[in-house]
Parts: sequence; structure tokens; C-alpha cells
Amino acid sequence: MLTVTQALKSRSSKRAYLPKPVPRDIQEKILAAAAMTPSGANMQPWVTYAISDKATLDKVGGAIIKAMDEGVINDQFIQYYPVNWTNPYKKRRIVTGSGLYKLMEVDRKDDATRLEMWKDNFRWFGAQTVFFVFTDKANIDGAEGLLLDCGAYMQSIMLLAREYDLHTCPQGSTTEFGKIIARELNVPDNLALLYSIVIGYPDEDAKINSYQPKRVNLDESVTFI
Ligand SMILES: Cc1cc2nc3c(=O)[nH]c(=O)nc-3n(C[C@H](O)[C@H](O)[C@H](O)COP(=O)(O)O)c2cc1C
Repeated sequence: MLTVTQALKSRSSKRAYLPKPVPRDIQEKILAAAAMTPSGANMQPWVTYAISDKATLDKVGGAIIKAMDEGVINDQFIQYYPVNWTNPYKKRRIVTGSGLYKLMEVDRKDDATRLEMWKDNFRWFGAQTVFFVFTDKANIDGAEGLLLDCGAYMQSIMLLAREYDLHTCPQGSTTEFGKIIARELNVPDNLALLYSIVIGYPDEDAKINSYQPKRVNLDESVTFI
């Protein structure tokens, strides 16, 4: 079995998957263990829809792509990315993005191809299962703390996936279209989408899956006193 360090170091976001389903019992094992993620006051604020039904995934993704084609920029419950990007984060974003486009031999000015690559998010990168994570709207009405809990839950799922030889891609792209997703899935009115996680068996031959952006040195992110 993988150590936690091995699970962390072997994980990276995968953006091309084989058409191979993730067995239901494995999904249940991952989600049951992820439910052990700690949360403030043991609120367990995550509400997860684990969807493997192709027609449903096509419907949700299709609705987002249609909205994008009609010029909708977002339709969201929460704003994930900064409204004003500042350094060093802006620079890190550019380095990470340009590294991916360089690997894929896509010109940074080739907006059409870049847009198609982004739309692959809503084709779920060919994966058969997506976990959509919602919370109760009341939890995010004037408070942000539970977002920390749901972020930890996300990491639990991504690390547990490694134990079953699965890979993942966390998706903030779906955060931006959370209201469309809530509508298409017909979830109860009290729920707001936070993010999704694509999970599946990656296509090891796909060039895009070799991308592993580096991290900054420890002294840029940690202060020991
Ligand atoms: C909350 C969150 C949202 C993300 N949203 C997306 C997304 O919508 N699409 C995507 O391709 N990657 C997405 N990513 C993946 C990041 O780009 C990736 O984690 C980062 O570049 C580091 O690369 P690595 O995950 O391969 O180590 C997201 C990551 C996180 C943690």
C-alpha cells in the first residue's frame, strides 16, 4: 500500500482518461474514507453527487459548453479565483499555464485551441465518473470557513484515489458554472456547487498526462521561527 508521501508525490492532475468505469464499490470505499476528513464542529459540510451515468454527464457538460458558446462567462455560487491577480500568484499561474501549452505545442495566442482545451473540462476529459461537491447555501452565507473543510475533503478523495490506481483532476472550472450544474442535476434548492473532481483511469499514453508543474522552494512558502 502507498504511504501518504507516495500518494502525494504520485498524484498530479490528469486530463485524459480511458473509457473504463470506476467500479461502484471502489467509489464507495473512497467516499466512505474521505468522509473521515475533519471539519469544524464536525459539520461535514460536503454534499456529494457521484455521477457515472453518461447521459447525465453529457447533459451537464453540454449545458455548460452551450452557455459558454452563448457568451456566458460564469454562473456561479462562489468566486474561486482571485478577482485581481497579484504576484507571485499571477506569475505562477502564467508559468503553469504556459508550461502546459508548450508541452501540447499550442501557441499562447491560439485562443481557439486553448478554449477547446478548457472545454475538455466539461467533457470530463473522457472520464466516466465525476464527483460534484455541494454544500448548503446557509453555510456560505457570510462565512467561508467550511470551504476549508471541503478543500480538505477534496484532497482526501484525490489521495485515496491513488490507493486504487486511480487518478483525478480537481475542477474549479465547474465552480464557475455551479448554478448551471445545480439546475441540470435538479439538486435541492438549498445546495450550492463548490467544485467537482474527475476520477478515473488515466490514458498513460496521452502527452497531456505527463505534465507535472513544479512547486516553489520551501523557503518561499514556509517560515520557520
Ligand atoms: C481547487 C482546484 C481547482 C482546479 N481546477 C482545475 C480545472 O478546472 N481544470 C483543470 O484542468 N485543472 C484544475 N486544477 C488543477 C491545477 O491546475 C493543478 O492542481 C495545479 O496546476 C498543480 O498541478 P498538479 O495538480 O498536476 O500537481 C485545479 C486544482 C485545484 C486544487
